[in-house]
Amino acid sequence: MVTIRLRVNGKAREVSVRPNETLLDVLRERLGLTGTKKGCVLGDCGACTVLLDGKPVNSCLVLAVDAAHGEVLTVEGLAENGGLHPLQEAFIRYGAIQCGYCSPGMLLSLKALLDREPYPTREQVMSAISGNLCRCGGYHKIADAAQAASSAGERGGDDRS
Ligand code: FES
Ligand code: FES
Repeated sequence: MVTIRLRVNGKAREVSVRPNETLLDVLRERLGLTGTKKGCVLGDCGACTVLLDGKPVNSCLVLAVDAAHGEVLTVEGLAENGGLHPLQEAFIRYGAIQCGYCSPGMLLSLKALLDREPYPTREQVMSAISGNLCRCGGYHKIADAAQAASSAGERGGDDRS
């Protein structure tokens, strides 16, 4: 076992991990953060997406030891000041959640997009979620929600070009 230190959702954590243990398994099984979903475990579905140092990663493909000293954000850390994140609010308002399995990964991919591009076009939104599969086929509602949550949506721009 190896002891690693990292920050998860703003809190310093110290965890003993096996050298071959993935960040996904550490989050779910050692830290109890089961909001991050386990799907294909092959890097194909995006259900396990979290932000590592601000960038979306498939946590099933990242060794926990390689995340040492990193800053991890999971869906449990998205809510701000006791309220849901604007993306979460928009997902509810636009009916962008069906079974919900893809939702945590979608939300993290979209947060990374809005953090770097506050006024995303439809194309940029679709590109940001291109690694996230939604088996319920909810892509258009998810993209509508993302644009509504963007600064463009807040300003009433609602530019879905
Ligand atoms: S579980 Fe990681 S990409 Fe599918
Ligand atoms: S809402 Fe069911 S997989 Fe996307």
